Amino acid sequence: MKQFIVLLVILATLYVTPSSSEGILTGLWSRIMPKDSSSEETSAEAWKSSRENIATLESLEAISAESVSQISEISKIWNPLSWFQSAETTKEAVPFNMDAELGTSEIIRRHGYPSEAHVVQTEDGYLLTLHRIPCGRSGWTSCLAQGRGRGQAVFVQHGLLGSSADWVLSGPENGLAFLLADVGYDVWIGNTRGNTYSNRHTTMRKDDAKFWDFSWHEMAKYDIPAAIDYVLEVKNTESRKYTNDSTTQRHNDLLYIGHSMGTTMAFAMLSMNPEYNKKVKGVFALAPVAFMAHVKSPLRLIAPFSKDLEWVMKFMGNEFLPRNKIITFLAKYGCEMNNVERYICENSIFVLCGFDTAQYNSDLTPVIFAHTPAGASTKTLIHYAQEIHERGDFKYFDYGRTENEQRYGQPTPPLYNVTNISAPVALIYASNDWLAGPQDVELLHQKLPNSIGVSKVPFESFNHLDFLYGKDAKTLVYIDLMKTMEKYRSP
Ligand SMILES: *[C@@H]1O[C@H](CO)[C@@H](O)[C@H](O)[C@H]1NC(C)=O
Ligand SMILES: *[C@@H]1O[C@H](CO)[C@@H](O)[C@H](O)[C@H]1NC(C)=O
Ligand SMILES: *[C@@H]1O[C@H](CO)[C@@H](O)[C@H](O)[C@H]1NC(C)=O
Repeated sequence: MKQFIVLLVILATLYVTPSSSEGILTGLWSRIMPKDSSSEETSAEAWKSSRENIATLESLEAISAESVSQISEISKIWNPLSWFQSAETTKEAVPFNMDAELGTSEIIRRHGYPSEAHVVQTEDGYLLTLHRIPCGRSGWTSCLAQGRGRGQAVFVQHGLLGSSADWVLSGPENGLAFLLADVGYDVWIGNTRGNTYSNRHTTMRKDDAKFWDFSWHEMAKYDIPAAIDYVLEVKNTESRKYTNDSTTQRHNDLLYIGHSMGTTMAFAMLSMNPEYNKKVKGVFALAPVAFMAHVKSPLRLIAPFSKDLEWVMKFMGNEFLPRNKIITFLAKYGCEMNNVERYICENSIFVLCGFDTAQYNSDLTPVIFAHTPAGASTKTLIHYAQEIHERGDFKYFDYGRTENEQRYGQPTPPLYNVTNISAPVALIYASNDWLAGPQDVELLHQKLPNSIGVSKVPFESFNHLDFLYGKDAKTLVYIDLMKTMEKYRSP
């Protein structure tokens, strides 16, 4: 299935102006999408015209020998290890960091913190790993002896293509999970279905297509509620043991920190399942993604095709693999936009989320690359792409009219009703975020009934991934975040 690549290659060759970075995307984009897509008619038009483009391309494919050779050039399998071996790509030696070889539990342990791993089964049979840092670095033996689970629980949820490692890989001085543990939180770190730590199921195997039949909707519906209930149950069991009182029910709620898709999941869960608003005492949303009308990510390029599911799945596969053709293709153009070395800009996470030279800590490269991308389903990306295609509306997955009728009892997917989110929500965004556009965050802020504030990171080029890996994430984001959290913390 080369039509899609051919389409992009041809559109790109025809319309791209390589001198302007914005031009690459907007040039392509304005030809796929009309400028004003504010009505159903226009987006239907756009869809029709993108279908026509495909049809044209199908006939072009046969004759376009040149494009085919470009395809084989850009679909060359990218070897993530190649940069380790190639001397000329690394100018300065990157210090050896053992964390590149270790999983989340081992990273936590090696830095001198207590580390636990728990497995939670969701209602639909996925087995998720939760990592836990129950106490801080200093005096944790006595902290544990005094009863585990006495601290306020905070649940920390990674975003698209990430894993629990995202919160620890920048080490004890800068990693948010460590900082939280050091000030006395009981830190629980989630892993969404399909990632490195959560790729098992009670009946399905990872290579079954069905295994990958989920988006963040299912994570919101099953994964997060299962994780929250599990955390509260474990903490209550522990505190009963400690107090010798079988009736103690000390832990009824927790704090939630999400990054990117970790925030989408929280918003979807709290709107679909409003009783969880009682179990979440505060949501702290880093790079919040709900409405998506102002997205700069190349994910936009997939948007016009996001309704032709069968075709997209055939093309990209059910599991979104780091070496898939679309990423390889986008990287080719993305690399021209970003003035960074190729091996960095070819990583799918940077292709989709952008790159910020000022905040990027190149010492972390081997560790980031060893853990990211950590796995996702293609359907997860498609769900976002559908939103982008449909004016940025925050809504359920679109299966097409017939299946929508069966599933939802209406021809179009329902909207997530964010008015249902009664839990306090703090929104923290960055001006150079390719996925969480400032205008979209502002809209969310206005719609949330209990928004406790929206704040912008005071650094112009701060971007989506800097919330995790940025050199100054601690001073620019985490310190303020932890101050805000204090107000919602149980004694
Ligand atoms: C709970 O019971 C154990 C053994 O019976 C005892 O050693 C411990 O001090 C008790 N803890 C509390 C908080 O009463
Ligand atoms: C909002 O919450 C109510 C229950 O309070 C629920 O019935 C409804 O489906 C929710 N709305 C959406 C759009 O999910
Ligand atoms: C959204 O939820 C709010 C509060 O639960 C409710 O009043 C409102 O009618 C809902 N809106 C829709 C469109 O369902």
